[in-house]
Amino acid sequence: MRTVSVDLQGREYTIYVGAGVRERLASVVAGLPGAHQVAVIADGHVAKLHLEKVVAGLDPPPTVLTVPPGESSKSREAAGRLYDGLAEARIERGDLIITLGGGMVGDLGGFVAATWLRGIRFVQVPTTLEAAIDASVGGKTGLNHPAGKNLIGAFHQPSAVVIDTDLLATLPQRDYTAGLGESVKHAAIRDAAFLAWQESNAEAIAAREQDVLTELIARNCEIKAAVVIRDEREQNLRAVLNFGHTIGHAVEHVLEYDLRHGECVALGMIAANELACARGLLDRSVADRIARLIGRLGLPRRLPRAVDTREIVEVCRMDKKVRAGRVHFVLLRELGTPERVGDVSEEEIGAAVRAIQPA
Ligand SMILES: NC(=O)c1ccc[n+]([C@@H]2O[C@H](COP(=O)([O-])OP(=O)(O)OC[C@H]3O[C@@H](n4cnc5c(N)ncnc54)[C@H](O)[C@@H]3O)[C@@H](O)[C@H]2O)c1
Ligand SMILES: [Zn+2]
Repeated sequence: MRTVSVDLQGREYTIYVGAGVRERLASVVAGLPGAHQVAVIADGHVAKLHLEKVVAGLDPPPTVLTVPPGESSKSREAAGRLYDGLAEARIERGDLIITLGGGMVGDLGGFVAATWLRGIRFVQVPTTLEAAIDASVGGKTGLNHPAGKNLIGAFHQPSAVVIDTDLLATLPQRDYTAGLGESVKHAAIRDAAFLAWQESNAEAIAAREQDVLTELIARNCEIKAAVVIRDEREQNLRAVLNFGHTIGHAVEHVLEYDLRHGECVALGMIAANELACARGLLDRSVADRIARLIGRLGLPRRLPRAVDTREIVEVCRMDKKVRAGRVHFVLLRELGTPERVGDVSEEEIGAAVRAIQPA
């Protein structure tokens, strides 16, 4: 087992990572004094696969509230039904919510915990790689609104995060691989040694070997925690986590969500590196190294079908990272050294997108 300690907003919590760490859940709950009752908010699909073994040690047994799988459950309506369930179960101020599932249920259940009785404690049990290495650190919780994703939200830190790598075994290969996009991103912006480690272990990572997977998750949590902790003091540092996300989000939007988020981030990083190379900011050999690792991990290096480059440019311009008409980008100067630039032209974006068009 590996543990990662996160100290945010004066509240420290521990992330436990490893095969079988679900068995620690009961002692984690026992270590949170005053929690008389526990409510589990679970993704319905994940509940069928894993609920029984996750709650096995909890005494008294928790109230279980499930939501249908899929992003459409990250809604005000679903949150409303969960509040009804908490009211019926008489969940009180000192009680505890456990979220079980991917980033969708983590965000939804975390938001419900942040707002029920003005905020009660919650423990996350992430079951996707995306949730384990990204959504579980930083305390962002929220809901979607018909006008846009994550428009409703709150910062609410969990009391603990329990990442049992056994539970990730049932994740479809494509979803697992997509999560690796954020892992390459974390290494690229913060940790050259971690990138080299991923290169050395690419096959074992793709095969989800338990020890390698535990190490991968723990190191990603450490990197994300380091960035968000420093951001509390240095405002906007957190923006480097957007590496690969400007063109990535545009691709996600233009392809109408045919690609997974992490796949789009991989393409977005390749395009951003292309842009940085064209500016003479980044050495071509580093861009090639990152692109090679992306490919070896099973992530796409090119778009599955041709897209209209102008359409991508247009969506980038509408992105929230645009200020005063200029598109803001996170570019790499070298491995581990990102830089924010605010003067990227449409021509530069167009050229970068051409580099990820199908061959
Ligand atoms: N709060 C943050 O900082 C943050 C960061 C990144 C992403 N997010 C949010 O996370 C969400 C995406 O998360 P996600 O990619 O985990 O998607 P998700 O939670 O929708 O899960 C994806 C699919 O995998 C299934 N699944 C989950 N665990 C499984 C398992 N162990 N075995 C089999 N199937 C399993 C789910 O039922 C679902 O169908 C988005 O809403 C995004 O906005 C939040
Ligand atoms: Zn992302």
